[in-house]
Amino acid sequence: MIEQKATNIFWHQGAITLSDRERLNGHRGFTVWFTGLSASGKSTLAVATEQGLYERGYHTYILDGDNVRHGLNKNLGFSPEDRTENIRRIGEVAGLLRDCGIINLVAFISPYRIDRQAARELNNDSTFIEVFIDCPVEICEQRDPKGAYKKARQGIIKEFTGISAPYEAPENPEIHLRTDEMSEEECVQLIISYLMKHKYIPG
Ligand code: ADX
Repeated sequence: MIEQKATNIFWHQGAITLSDRERLNGHRGFTVWFTGLSASGKSTLAVATEQGLYERGYHTYILDGDNVRHGLNKNLGFSPEDRTENIRRIGEVAGLLRDCGIINLVAFISPYRIDRQAARELNNDSTFIEVFIDCPVEICEQRDPKGAYKKARQGIIKEFTGISAPYEAPENPEIHLRTDEMSEEECVQLIISYLMKHKYIPG
């Protein structure tokens, strides 16, 4: 739990509720949280899922680790503490987007179970869909689109997830996808079907 530093601050209630915003948008706001190793397919699937949702007329936004680390989280590295703070901030941002009635797709390695659990609690369990992008580290290493695994093996990148830093796989994700066994289209279809089945979006 992060320390509350500021004192003498008071919550100011707005006049427009989440329900008002959802009515205006014509759909629910919720968070689809992709977690998995680097090169497992998180960003690819977030982009493809967003396209599918956008084409259906839904308001969406992607929060991607590599992108957010260029701005909001540019002061964070990859130590366990910095990763925890990275995920804490993104959990907060996802919550704000959800409050706007937006469907937000979050693609961060988010290697620690406790940090993902904190993000879930912040976002309200009923609007948080954890998607485990599961791919053996050997396959991720073969893909290595950014050359990061090679650098990690050479010791150039320290504390690299799956090589020299841990990844704690979800125990009970809402959706579990094996990207080494399924095509991108199949994965997106499964996500969209889940959202329909559980009434996040109309069937
Ligand atoms: S997280 O662990 O804090 O959730 P995040 O998703 O924001 O990570 O960023 C991961 C991206 O940063 C990877 O896709 C990779 O390109 C890059 N990266 C650079 N150094 C590391 C590292 N030590 N471990 C993992 N990813 C790294």
